[in-house]
Amino acid sequence: MTNAELIIEAKKAREFAYAPYSHFWVGAALETKDGKIYRGCNVENSAFGPTNCAERTAFFKAISEGDREFARIAIVGGMEGTEADKPCAPCGVCRQVMNEFCDPDTFEIILADGHGGELVFTLKEMLPSVVGGIQFQAEA
Ligand code: THU
Repeated sequence: MTNAELIIEAKKAREFAYAPYSHFWVGAALETKDGKIYRGCNVENSAFGPTNCAERTAFFKAISEGDREFARIAIVGGMEGTEADKPCAPCGVCRQVMNEFCDPDTFEIILADGHGGELVFTLKEMLPSVVGGIQFQAEA
């Protein structure tokens, strides 16, 4: 699957966003190393704190189905009822969850750039200087 196709999967996931409080709809498409796709959307809550981001929804779906080897994630976000036409970068909590399961040097985070293209970052670029996850295991 190309990056552009993975972004299309993220846009499909975004259609299911439950965001009656922020009105900001986010979709993510997570690809395993063997090419399986897990989609996720944000799921908000009136108590705010229980809100789950699209990225973590996708990760937790995958992990709870037995997949732990991930290659890439595409993310799209934008206001309810509009095209996701600006890059939407993952929050710090989601970056930390990615760090738990992904190789920081090779895992790619793909953001739609708003012009039909994509911005691509490694996890290490988005979350430098971490302790935890596979880095912690490697250093132990
Ligand atoms: N959100 C995500 O799902 N992923 C992101 O990358 C950014 C933020 C959600 C959380 C909340 O439901 C809404 O977007 C506004 O922050």
